[in-house]
Amino acid sequence: MARHTLPQRIKQSTTTPEAEATPPRHHPSSQGAQSETPNAGTAKQGHGIPPRALTFLGITALTISTYCGYLYASYTREVNKAQTLDVPRDVSDRYNTTAATFDADVELSEKAMGLGKKRRDLVHQARGNVLEVSCGTGRNLPFYELGERRGTDVDGRAAVLGCRSVTFVDLSPQMVAIAKEKFEKLYPAFKAVLFQACDAGAVAAPSAVKGEPVYFDTVVQTMGLCSMPDPVATLRHLGSVTEPENGRILLLEHGRSYYDWVNRILDNLAPAHADRHGCWWNRDIGEIVRESGLEIVEEKRWHLGTTWRYVLRPKQVEKSQS
Ligand SMILES: C[S@@+](CC[C@H](N)C(=O)[O-])C[C@H]1O[C@@H](n2cnc3c(N)ncnc32)[C@H](O)[C@@H]1O
Repeated sequence: MARHTLPQRIKQSTTTPEAEATPPRHHPSSQGAQSETPNAGTAKQGHGIPPRALTFLGITALTISTYCGYLYASYTREVNKAQTLDVPRDVSDRYNTTAATFDADVELSEKAMGLGKKRRDLVHQARGNVLEVSCGTGRNLPFYELGERRGTDVDGRAAVLGCRSVTFVDLSPQMVAIAKEKFEKLYPAFKAVLFQACDAGAVAAPSAVKGEPVYFDTVVQTMGLCSMPDPVATLRHLGSVTEPENGRILLLEHGRSYYDWVNRILDNLAPAHADRHGCWWNRDIGEIVRESGLEIVEEKRWHLGTTWRYVLRPKQVEKSQS
């Protein structure tokens, strides 16, 4: 065996550099060619991409470009239509007709955006006497902790947690009826609950006890500022019915983005969206909150900045001024 290997090695090492640089000759019809180029079957085109892969890429590119063209044409058509509409600022009456299909309409997009968890994290903070305005069909209901218990707050201090009572308010009687039916199925034993079809901007604080004013400890609103004609005035009013020192207003809203290109799309389609769904999706939620004068305890944004979460409290008045 050693005798055979030694001359072979010598032969390899004596190959000239010119010979190494010369590519092997192809003889497509001969067996020798097949043994010299084992990948010849998959690289026939010379660019290394098999024909099947090329066909697949071509069809995929054609499908994507056709779909993009279709989306662009639909978008342009919708924008042109939207710009011709004369939509009033107050579109809240749309919910009376969409109440029955509301849950089915928003379910998929809310799942895709992970809104269930965001609702839960927000509503879990509700405690004491709670008011939820613009409650809609009651999509937050599963996340309330009903009944009070001793525990610790986010800072680790001893606190009373859970809800003593809950008042649900929505302008649309159809929405309220759906929320009420859901609540009674979910919590048949909890009786400290009230449902009202009324404007969030006119809701009354719980009645005074022995002359002392009584406030709500927590006010919750999710996806509501987009639907009301005067969101700043409504927030101010909510601040006035919230317990001044420790009360909290919890908001989860949608509106303008961090990005101009997203806002351009929202602006272009806003009239059509508002007319159909009763919601102005291009509002600057941060601006509304700042104008309301409420104090920001926490602010967070997701989804290119279009989903906004706020923890607010009534404006704190210096003790010496009060
Ligand atoms: C987009 S829906 C959101 C419903 C619910 N909060 C949720 O998160 O699924 C907006 C709701 O606000 C209600 N709404 C609009 N204007 C209102 C107002 N001025 N006072 C109370 N509710 C109002 C509508 O009837 C509708 O149910």
